[in-house]
Amino acid sequence: MIELQDVSVIFDNKGPIHAVDNVNLSINDGEVFGIIGYSGAGKSTLVRTINMLQPPTKGHVKVNQQDLTTLSVKELRQVRKKIGMIFQHFNLMNARNVFDNVAFPLKHSHLSKNEKSEKVLSLLKLVGLDDKANAYPSQLSGGQKQRVAIARALANDPNVLLCDEATSALDPKTTTSILELLKSVNQKLGITIVIITHEMTVIKEICDRVAVMESGKVIEQGSIFNIFSEPQHALTRDFIESASPVEKGIKKVIEHAHLLNIHADDQILRVSFAGTSTGDALIATLANKFGVQPNILFGQVEILQDTPVGTLLLSLRGDREAIDAAIDYMDNQQISVQRLELSTHEGGVK
Ligand SMILES: Nc1ncnc2c1ncn2[C@@H]1O[C@H](COP(=O)(O)OP(=O)(O)O)[C@@H](O)[C@H]1O
Ligand SMILES: [Mg+2]
Repeated sequence: MIELQDVSVIFDNKGPIHAVDNVNLSINDGEVFGIIGYSGAGKSTLVRTINMLQPPTKGHVKVNQQDLTTLSVKELRQVRKKIGMIFQHFNLMNARNVFDNVAFPLKHSHLSKNEKSEKVLSLLKLVGLDDKANAYPSQLSGGQKQRVAIARALANDPNVLLCDEATSALDPKTTTSILELLKSVNQKLGITIVIITHEMTVIKEICDRVAVMESGKVIEQGSIFNIFSEPQHALTRDFIESASPVEKGIKKVIEHAHLLNIHADDQILRVSFAGTSTGDALIATLANKFGVQPNILFGQVEILQDTPVGTLLLSLRGDREAIDAAIDYMDNQQISVQRLELSTHEGGVK
């Protein structure tokens, strides 16, 4: 378990900069924990306190009940072996081949030459690069370089892997493959992973929980499901919108209502549901049970931590009473319904 207690980092740069401002976080063993925030939010500084590359100005950093802020340099060196780290730009040694890069952290280990070699080859196999042992970093793609960096970070069998924007220099497809590798490292080896990113898609794909950072502070944290279904802060909503642009889609539909056969007295609804209730069954029920005509204008379903979360933009056509009864019904089904108004100008309907 990683515990950050009242951690602050203050830099002095012609005046104090509160890079990390009184942060409290607990990260459980075996969890994939995300930290998201815009550039300058303090993410890198915060994560560097976990292995004491950045000693905190105030507060305590505990890893497996050991307070790292009290350790000697020598003790810290031992602790750091069990905390691997990877970076945005891979930080490989370009003059050394893949094998030597991965073997580097084993330099002072007690393993024999043969054991080291076996270890390196098994790590290269784990990351899918067993045929690249003799290649040099310049001969590898970005994704392959990050795989080498991951193998190197795992050389001393760490319990924790810190990832600082590890996919930010990669294209989306390579990002997905690296995230899959990290997930399998987490599951196969039981390693706790801390992921820093400015991309909510990364958080959504791999994390169990997430903390949102702004100006050195953690402004919100929780499970992926809770954060995505009930974000509390505008910044969090911005990040979510960037990962799945529901609001943008809904806005576009509303602005182009005149193209979508919507009548002035249709009731437009934004419907959100989580769990097993599905949009399909809902539409059929609205039509059959209440005699209204539902029309889907926009829809999206996401799977967050194995739970479907859906948003629909519906228009209901029919008698006022029938529409009201249909909305009451949805309210009673733990489906969240919001009535939207179409503007009568800017492309809305008359
Ligand atoms: N070594 C340093 N000296 C002075 N200021 C720093 C140093 N490292 C980071 N900062 C400042 O601390 C703030 C947080 O930086 P950083 O942790 O790198 O944010 P992020 O990783 O979220 O982009 C920024 O204002 C940055 O300029
Ligand atoms: Mg950073």
